[in-house]
Amino acid sequence: IKKIRTVHLAEAKARGEKFAMLTCYDALTATIFDEAGIEVLLIGDSAGNNVLGHESTLTITLDQMIPLVAAVSSAAQRALVVADMPFGSYQVSPEQAVESAIRLMKEGGAHAVKMEGSAYYAEHVRAVVNAGIPVMAHIGFTPQSEHALGGFRIQGRGDASAKVVEDAVTLAEAGAFCVLMEMSTNATGSAVNKALGPVPTVSIGAGADATGHVLVWQDMMGLRSGKMARFVKQYANLHHIMKDAASAYRNDIRSGAYPAPEHGFEG
Ligand code: KIV
Ligand code: NA
Repeated sequence: IKKIRTVHLAEAKARGEKFAMLTCYDALTATIFDEAGIEVLLIGDSAGNNVLGHESTLTITLDQMIPLVAAVSSAAQRALVVADMPFGSYQVSPEQAVESAIRLMKEGGAHAVKMEGSAYYAEHVRAVVNAGIPVMAHIGFTPQSEHALGGFRIQGRGDASAKVVEDAVTLAEAGAFCVLMEMSTNATGSAVNKALGPVPTVSIGAGADATGHVLVWQDMMGLRSGKMARFVKQYANLHHIMKDAASAYRNDIRSGAYPAPEHGFEG
């Protein structure tokens, strides 16, 4: 199996091809997505919400991220494995960013890291890239700054578009191999993709023009129920499938249908 490398994402953009990215937080899911040909697996800090039951992405720690990263890295044969730098693991200084990124690579086995932030974080990106670690920059709506941004708001509207494009260009110049844009207007997403030239982009609710697209897997497969963001397309209803299976199992136990003779050991 030929592994997906960061250079392949740039090649996709050059050829006018697209790639798919999904979040992933465990080994069995990584195997499934890898077999399906998903090019990039992201151990997002959204594991805080989707795995650990936290209310936001702000509270997951680097120590909590690492075992999840290691699980995905060990199971993925082909996909590029990108690990999120959680809140508090890089904001202090470029040195802190390098130390945290090293842990995600060394203890987690990631192939690259992702860091949220504006052009201010160019120094942090440059330091991590200089350590030999590929960095995906995350701009537009950045959930770790939820409280500073005044909640879940679409970024890059009107006059704010130029600033998002400037952030993207500065971070790419600092060495980011890819720029991910979250919840921004279609026009801003399009402008960023164009301004970055050969550097590939990923969109989540930032228009269709990006090189790749990403969704949280529990959202797009309907494992999580409840109100979804506008950009989520639902491809399955795992919530119902799992609930039905759990109920059928319980009913079988109560009726005596499970375990049946074939589930026991003779002799
Ligand atoms: O943590 C996450 O899931 C992300 C996304 C871009 C979906 O950062
Ligand atoms: Na994230």
